[in-house]
Amino acid sequence: MSTAVRIQRITWLADDVRLFELRTLDGAALPAWSAGAHVDVELPNGVVRPYSLLPAARPPDDRPDTYRIGVKRAADSTGGTRWLFSRGQVGVELGLSAPRNTFGLHGPGEAAATVLIGGGIGVTPLIAMAAELDARGERAWVLHYAVARREQAAFAEELAALGAGDRVRLHVDAEAGSVLDIGRILAEAAPAAALYACGPNPLLDALATAATAAGLPPGAVRVERFSPTAEPATGGGYTVVLIRSGRRLDIPPGATILGTLRKEGLSVLASCERGTCGTCETAVLGGTPDHRDTLLSPEEHADGTSMMICCSGSLTPELILDL
Ligand code: FES
Repeated sequence: MSTAVRIQRITWLADDVRLFELRTLDGAALPAWSAGAHVDVELPNGVVRPYSLLPAARPPDDRPDTYRIGVKRAADSTGGTRWLFSRGQVGVELGLSAPRNTFGLHGPGEAAATVLIGGGIGVTPLIAMAAELDARGERAWVLHYAVARREQAAFAEELAALGAGDRVRLHVDAEAGSVLDIGRILAEAAPAAALYACGPNPLLDALATAATAAGLPPGAVRVERFSPTAEPATGGGYTVVLIRSGRRLDIPPGATILGTLRKEGLSVLASCERGTCGTCETAVLGGTPDHRDTLLSPEEHADGTSMMICCSGSLTPELILDL
C-alpha cells in the first residue's frame, strides 16, 4: 500500500538533473530510512519507478514528512523519469512505497575506512552514505564523484555540506581529458577499506576489472547498478506454478513472468522492471531460474532460491514460485 505525497518543490540541480521534494498530504511522518535506500514512486500514469533517497544538505531541513529524490533525465527512460520531467509539477500527487535498502552501508565501526565512487546520478545513495558516516563520527571516508561535463555536476549544496578537506573529489572527464582512474583509487584505498559504487555500467565494469586486477575478492566492492547488464529472459516455453493458488501459467515466447502475471490480472509488486531494484524479488521453491538481474550475487544466482521475476526466466520446464 502506498502513501500519498505531493510534489512540494522541484529544484534545478544541473543539466538534466532535478531535485524533487515529496511531502505527505497531511504532514504525517514518513518511515525512517537508512543510507543507500530507495523508494518506489508511483506516478499518476501507473508507472512505478525506484529512486534513491537523499538527505537534506542541512540536517534541520530533514523534515520527517518529506523525502528527497534526485532525478536525471535519461535518453533511455522507460516512462518514470520522462513523466517526472514532462508532467511532474509542484502540487501533483504521487504514491510512495516504504523505503527499501538493497545497498546498505556497513554497521558502525565495521570498517576502518570507506571509499565511495559515484558516477552521474549514481552519486545519490553515496551522498547519503557519506552523511551517515559523518553522523556516526566515522570520518575516514572519501567520495569520488565522476561526471562527463561540469554542467552535469549536481548536488552542490549537499556536497559542500559534506566536503570538509578533500574528502569529496569531483572528477570531470572533459576537463581531465580522461575518465576516472579507478585503478589509482583502489591502489590508494586504505587496506580493508569498505568500497561502494553506483553509476553507469561502463564505470562499474571498469571498477570490476580494476578490482580483479588489484586482487580484491569477489564481492569486495558493493555495487548498485541502475541499468541492466543483460537482456530480459523472454524465450518463454516454460511453465510457472504459483504455489499459493496452485495455478499454472505457461510463459510464451516474447513474455516475461511479470508480464504474463499481469496479463492474467494478477497483481505483483514491481518497480524498475529491469532487474535493478529488487521490488519483484520472489522465492523459488522448485526449478532453476535463468537470472538476468544485477542485484543478486553470483552465489545467490547459483543458490537459485530467489529471483527477480521482471527480467529472469527459467532454465527448467517448470518453475515453482512462492506466489
Ligand atoms: S521490478 Fe525491480 S528488480 Fe524487478
